[in-house]
Amino acid sequence: MKNSYALVTGATSGIGLEISKYLAKKGYNLILVARTKDKLNYISKDLSQKYNVECDYFPSDLSEIKSPDDIYNFTKENHYNINILVNNAGYALPNAFHKNSMEEEEKCLRVLGISVIALTKKYINDMISNGGGKIMIVSSVAAFAPASSLQSLYGPVKTFMNRFSESLNFYNNKGITSTAVCPGYTVTNFHTASGVQKEMDSVPSFLKKSAKRIAEEGVEAMLKGKKVCVPTKTWKIIVFLLSILPKGLFELISDFFAPGRYNDV
Ligand SMILES: NC(=O)c1ccc[n+]([C@@H]2O[C@H](COP(=O)([O-])OP(=O)(O)OC[C@H]3O[C@@H](n4cnc5c(N)ncnc54)[C@H](OP(=O)(O)O)[C@@H]3O)[C@@H](O)[C@H]2O)c1
Repeated sequence: MKNSYALVTGATSGIGLEISKYLAKKGYNLILVARTKDKLNYISKDLSQKYNVECDYFPSDLSEIKSPDDIYNFTKENHYNINILVNNAGYALPNAFHKNSMEEEEKCLRVLGISVIALTKKYINDMISNGGGKIMIVSSVAAFAPASSLQSLYGPVKTFMNRFSESLNFYNNKGITSTAVCPGYTVTNFHTASGVQKEMDSVPSFLKKSAKRIAEEGVEAMLKGKKVCVPTKTWKIIVFLLSILPKGLFELISDFFAPGRYNDV
């Protein structure tokens, strides 16, 4: 398709940056979105030079209601056809539920949920008109885990995103696929940005995976049109165990998998 692009949110760091690099390496043109203009500018130039692809960027704060419209209008005005949409941007609130303000909760839910729905709603109509497209939603293993005392809305919104992604696959007959990529602990800026770096530091190292590995497995799953991807064997086994272990047993061993996450209130 002429002027076809992959749009990646949260492209300045961690998993989104690695997804952008991997897509560029595979020859896809890119539109990068995040808040930090300087980083977007640098990454955009770097990727287009290194991999000889078209790369543009749009700084936007996805916690603002108008952000998805602004992003969509930018791509329309520049005649960029988005045939891959990667909804990746995200963070979590550091505190227990009662300590966060409603405004903080709403902003976070907008980044992790509402903006994902709004961007998908915008681009899916173009994908239908163009005869197809690929959507990725970067979710989390938290979508499958029992409720936690810390970041109490993070797991539920990721479960919601998995269900949303699943329902988008009803558009398979229009050439559209949606892949929920569900990483476990990944070494990125996420834990510092979300105020839980101490928790991440005490996670056993065999449970921490590189953002590059998560991105590459996630992109390959998206390109194959898989519905759900839990990157790495370790986390596939854990997700399987989560589906069969009694909840009570998980609560007993939860401090090993997620120190501090189940006893913060
Ligand atoms: N790291 C993990 O252990 C882990 C595990 C499972 C799932 N995930 C998920 O993976 C995704 C990516 O996280 P990451 O680990 O790569 O974290 P990260 O390194 O902190 O990257 C987050 C990205 O999102 C952008 N972002 C944050 N808030 C934004 C906002 N309000 N508007 C626009 N962009 C925003 C950041 O850029 P700016 O600061 O420039 O805006 C950055 O590019 C998230 O959805 C997260 O929930 C992470």
